[in-house]
Amino acid sequence: MKLARFVPVLVLAGLILMACGGSTGGGTTAKKIALLLPEATTARYDTKDMPYFRDKLKQLCSDCQLLYSNAKQDAPTQQTQAEAAITNGASVIVLDPVDGAAAAAIVTKAKAANIPVISYDRLILNTADLNYYLSFDNAAVGALQGNALLTAMGSKTNPQIVEINGDPADNNAKLFKQGAHSVLDGKVKYGKEYDTPGWKPDNAQKEMQGALVALSNKVDGVLAANDGTAGGAIAAMKAAGLKPLPPITGQDAELAAIQRIVVGDQTMTVYKAIKAEAEAAAQLAYDLAFGVAVPSSMTNGKTVNNGKADVPSVLLTPVAVTKANIQSTVVADGFWTAADICTSQYASACAAAGIS
Ligand code: BGC
Repeated sequence: MKLARFVPVLVLAGLILMACGGSTGGGTTAKKIALLLPEATTARYDTKDMPYFRDKLKQLCSDCQLLYSNAKQDAPTQQTQAEAAITNGASVIVLDPVDGAAAAAIVTKAKAANIPVISYDRLILNTADLNYYLSFDNAAVGALQGNALLTAMGSKTNPQIVEINGDPADNNAKLFKQGAHSVLDGKVKYGKEYDTPGWKPDNAQKEMQGALVALSNKVDGVLAANDGTAGGAIAAMKAAGLKPLPPITGQDAELAAIQRIVVGDQTMTVYKAIKAEAEAAAQLAYDLAFGVAVPSSMTNGKTVNNGKADVPSVLLTPVAVTKANIQSTVVADGFWTAADICTSQYASACAAAGIS
């Protein structure tokens, strides 16, 4: 009985698979492209990167199949997901590594199977076999954060800050940190500085709690590496009764962070046009899958050294967002609509900030 009910479903599934794997009118065989993203706590991956990538790929080749996995911040899980993509016949792997050093093993396996790898957003380290690296200027992200923090702290001499960096296994976290230090060193006192395991907001909250106790709540500013860690740090400062909250940075232009900026709980975020990043990745993946020559305008000769090789690279430009330019950045770019941001709770603050 059970089997009988299953049969039509299986037949149908088989037909769908055949449709995806069959030949198109032009005679090209449909390809599978793997997109492997690192975590699901930060909103961008499942809600922005993946849909933008999927839609662009669909536009480029409607019968291509996207093999999507999210490693939920676990490097061995990502290794398994990559192996599954190789076994499933992926033509290209677009990989945003949980652990930039550990992911070199994935590139080695892909290379052995003749599958090109694009390092997406985060650099895969110490492998000579990487085809492309596609990201933002991540040191510039840290510098934007540091400069915005200095501006917000005003003229106070030698202000005491807490610096909450990202996950040490993420090469971007290292670059954000370098960029921030490049503008803050000599101008601030680092009361406490942390690297935040897994980029987890809960860990950032605990770090901030510890800093507030150690510094007797004397904090003039907080350099938080992204919006998730900023959210954790803000929760800790609110729980400790800090009023007003000191200036605090972020990154990703997450909706919650934009709303915190509108009401003044967060000073700034860094907007990275994820649509441009994901669409360039889809285009590159398509070109590599179908053997289309990648135009030189894609990288303009730019390379980034990953410890083993100069990897052809595309680095997009990040933008600082404060209350004053939410409208002309994230809203103008269609990343969020005014309706997304200005729900009833934020309506009056939105009007005051000129967001419509
Ligand atoms: C990304 C950020 C993100 C962070 C945590 C970084 O590599 O560039 O956009 O907030 O990882 O996932």
